[in-house]
Amino acid sequence: MRKPMLAGNWKMNKTRDEAIQFVLAVEGNLPASIDCVVCAPAIILRDIVKRAETLKVGAQNMNENESGAYTGEISPVMLKDTQVEYVILGHSERRAYYNETNEKINAKIKKALEFELKPIVCVGEVLEERETGKTYDVLKEQVVKAFDGVTIKNPADVIIAYEPVWAIGTGKTATTEVAEDACKFIRGVLADIFGKAVADELRILYGGSMKPSNVGELMSEPDIDGGLVGGASLKADSFIELCTTAA
Ligand code: G3P
Repeated sequence: MRKPMLAGNWKMNKTRDEAIQFVLAVEGNLPASIDCVVCAPAIILRDIVKRAETLKVGAQNMNENESGAYTGEISPVMLKDTQVEYVILGHSERRAYYNETNEKINAKIKKALEFELKPIVCVGEVLEERETGKTYDVLKEQVVKAFDGVTIKNPADVIIAYEPVWAIGTGKTATTEVAEDACKFIRGVLADIFGKAVADELRILYGGSMKPSNVGELMSEPDIDGGLVGGASLKADSFIELCTTAA
């Protein structure tokens, strides 16, 4: 049985005080039956970890090296030292703005697992790829290359997020049918790589304009195990509603 997950991706938002106020507001109001996670900017992770009790914490990126001349980067060593549990890897914004390739994301996944961090691996097609019928090809390539040579010891610790790029930040949520179809396809590709038993234990989240009004319908689908939520995760009351609806 896969434990549902509702993860907020705050992206480049929140000061230290805003983050602390968020944690104080949500603690005590989150369901225990799902994993409730916030993935915050690196500079405020420690402040959140120190105050989080039921809330779980993740980073939004990680360098694939343990240390060295990588100005501005955050290492897995630093994330472990900060005691975060999850790390988003391969978000479409990093693929688009920072030229992150499937190969680099693969290296990051391997390093994250080496350091016992739980990767939330993002895949998804752009609008042109969907409109020209390339969605399955794109998703297959992203999943196969992301997990090339990866050994999964505990499937519960590896999460995939299907985020159709055309639904991110647009308010244009994928229909439940489109989202389930993509997540089911991704689970099939994972089964080809790791076997059906492991694929059936891996959690697949949907991301792309998920909000309290649509999270329930999306999560009613068999292959959607939760959400990776941007805008609607920023306010404490909305995050609480997302998590309680997802539970
Ligand atoms: O990583 C989640 C994010 O890309 C989705 O953003 O604002 O469409 O929920 P949003």
